[in-house]
Amino acid sequence: MGVNKIVSDTQESKKEIVNITIDGKELQVPKGTNLIEAAKMADTEIPYYCYHPDLSIAGNCRMCQVEVEGMRKLTIGCNTGATEGMVVKTQKTSKKVADAQRSTLEFLLVNHPLDCTVCDQAGHCKLQDYYYEYNSKPSRFLEDKVEKVKAESLGPEIIYDGERCILCTRCVRFCEEVTESGELGLYNRGDKAVIGIDPSNELTNELSGTVADLCPVGALTHKRWRFNTRIWYTKEVESVCSGCSTGCNVKVALRDEQIVHVKGRYNEQVNKEWLCDEGRYGFDRFRSQEYLDSAYIRNDIDGLDLDEVKNEEALNFVASKFDKSKKTAFVLSPFLTFEELWLASKFAKSVSSVEFSSPDVAMQVMTRDIGSKKLLSPDYAPNAKAGVSLGVVPQSDNWRKDLESKYKKLISNLSSYKQVFFFGDFAILDDALDQELIKNINALDLSVAVSSRALVDDESVVSTSYAQFCNVVLPGVNVYQKSGLFLNKDSVLQRVKKFFEPVGVYDAVLYNQLASKLGATLIEKEDFTERDLFFEVAKSFSGFKDLTLAKVGQSGVRI
Ligand code: SF4
Ligand code: SF4
Ligand code: FES
Repeated sequence: MGVNKIVSDTQESKKEIVNITIDGKELQVPKGTNLIEAAKMADTEIPYYCYHPDLSIAGNCRMCQVEVEGMRKLTIGCNTGATEGMVVKTQKTSKKVADAQRSTLEFLLVNHPLDCTVCDQAGHCKLQDYYYEYNSKPSRFLEDKVEKVKAESLGPEIIYDGERCILCTRCVRFCEEVTESGELGLYNRGDKAVIGIDPSNELTNELSGTVADLCPVGALTHKRWRFNTRIWYTKEVESVCSGCSTGCNVKVALRDEQIVHVKGRYNEQVNKEWLCDEGRYGFDRFRSQEYLDSAYIRNDIDGLDLDEVKNEEALNFVASKFDKSKKTAFVLSPFLTFEELWLASKFAKSVSSVEFSSPDVAMQVMTRDIGSKKLLSPDYAPNAKAGVSLGVVPQSDNWRKDLESKYKKLISNLSSYKQVFFFGDFAILDDALDQELIKNINALDLSVAVSSRALVDDESVVSTSYAQFCNVVLPGVNVYQKSGLFLNKDSVLQRVKKFFEPVGVYDAVLYNQLASKLGATLIEKEDFTERDLFFEVAKSFSGFKDLTLAKVGQSGVRI
């Protein structure tokens, strides 16, 4: 059998490499790699519950037992490091291991209530999966099951069901080692053991919902999502959180156009498998309740008298007013994708000879003080760093401050311009709008916004915050209605996928149509997709040299 050279990580590659054999397959791995990870490299699954690559080893579930040549007894794979010449047999090639795993499962299920029919974890539960795969034996247990706590509240978000708990202690170790808040503990012994919390305390750390993701069974569930759906009725989209520039990887379950569950997705270089509560439970907050589905032209200066028009009419209106020789400003949203921002930079250059690095271009950055909160980034929009990469401000450690001061300067100087383009939702925040700013923008010769957000007032008049001051509003799409790339705060480029079908036209298509009305060609093809746009960027943006969507993959790539 040939030798598999598996040395993927650059740091790992500096470690001593050893030759091992797993189920007859020879491979090379860094010395000390635990056998669960080594087996993954050989495309073999060793089942486990308590092990997590980013938590300490507890070694308490005994599900990962393997046979190692030369050892008298079976050993646990999570706590056994690879050494030179090690020969390992898993459940695939060792009857002893398969029998031990069957017995472990039988033991774990002794006091389990087997209430899968009402359990939220049914369909994505490791007890169900492993029972099906590694046991499939009827229970021999005739005695009465031990009753434990049921539906106990551990904090504002999480509920504990003691009878389903297999005492893997992942939740306890997470609160000790990651959030360092230590709320949870293992109480009592033997079949009376449960996870508990000091009655004077609550599970309130800023990543508290993560314990439900880590729980391999249905013992920890989210209060707000309990019993809301069976997992097999949902569609799962793997994407990235838009809550801040950390860009945590998520799995979002959707049903009937609603977000019904948000789970962390493993990405070693970004968020491990953790999510903050604000991002997870507030996932819906960037989704407008109402989307603009039409273009608007304002027909008065002081009021909100808007004419609903077709896109074509709005584009022609802009073309009739726009004057290339007049001073023009561009204000960008950090919710635009990298590709949209790249096209906006081409737009500014082609129609107004304005470079992104000039004082005429600014990007909203949305910063706040987060104190010592874990995981969260101080800028709570996903893609401001892309603006830096495209030259809005120079690359530096102070990029947030630089973006902020450039933004404030441009907004306070808007009255010195004649024309302005606002690209994307939240290029100006609603609460930043004061009468003076509105008056200044009203006084310009032309103001144009591309936005998805609609507000419906008491008289059902559709407007948007941009409509308070823009001559023309074109209906773009929301951050959840498009796919593209986000650059996180650590310069990891990641792919976001759309959750909902767009109502309007993809923003980039509108920029292209608008540019063409203003006499410039950005992209030859009139109706292009997000994918087409990526290829355009990859062809001409030097930062994307040799980049493919396959390289970005599911985990992103550092640029
Ligand atoms: Fe493990 Fe879940 Fe029990 Fe915590 S509640 S010990 S994560 S099974
Ligand atoms: Fe979302 Fe930021 Fe929270 Fe991560 S840290 S889950 S990106 S809000
Ligand atoms: Fe090894 Fe639990 S994963 S003992």
